[in-house]
Amino acid sequence: MDKMELSTGISTFPMPAAVISVGIGDEANLITLAYVGKVCSSPPVVAVSIQPRRHSYQLIEKHREFVINYPTINQLREMDYCGTRSGRDLNKWEELNLTKEKGSVVQVPLIKEFPWNMECKVIQRTELGTHVCYFGEVVAVHSDSKFIRNNNIDPDKIDTFAYVSGNYIGLKKGAIGRHGFSLN
Ligand SMILES: Cc1cc2nc3c(=O)[nH]c(=O)nc-3n(C[C@H](O)[C@H](O)[C@H](O)COP(=O)(O)O)c2cc1C
Repeated sequence: MDKMELSTGISTFPMPAAVISVGIGDEANLITLAYVGKVCSSPPVVAVSIQPRRHSYQLIEKHREFVINYPTINQLREMDYCGTRSGRDLNKWEELNLTKEKGSVVQVPLIKEFPWNMECKVIQRTELGTHVCYFGEVVAVHSDSKFIRNNNIDPDKIDTFAYVSGNYIGLKKGAIGRHGFSLN
């Protein structure tokens, strides 16, 4: 193996590319984020990082709530669109024909057409440098039932993608091993 050193600025991989809703009512906006991940199981907490120059930054600061909406592979264009245009200039919901759906707990709307949605309330905020990191407690989760088996995401049905080095990579359907399989 011929290993070489890379910049410490390289991203972890694979990353998700999720569309986050922020803001409420007519102000509600959508932003694509790759800096999204679960960081605690009890309480369930996720972290998302947003640059202060984003329009969405003002909205998460104002309402301290957000919703993570995960796209299917057929919603790749919507995801890329939300990450390349600003809500300062246009209404992404209208441009993409996306529907605001009422959440169970938070005021920020879910994207109805995206099959997985996680409602989160900000419990902590940390200024790290280029990005401000928000820790959000997950207060409700929704999924299209067709992707669920035994109350969890079914790896044989999930149809999504990851983000690696600026590219969107399709994830082949189907588990290739189960957590703990090496114990046997
Ligand atoms: C795949 C992808 C991942 C992104 N990840 C982040 C991120 O983690 N944090 C961030 O601040 N911006 C990220 N961006 C950039 C914002 O989505 C982009 O600047 C967006 O247009 C901001 O929208 P807004 O001005 O309406 O808030 C990402 C964009 C793409 C396409």
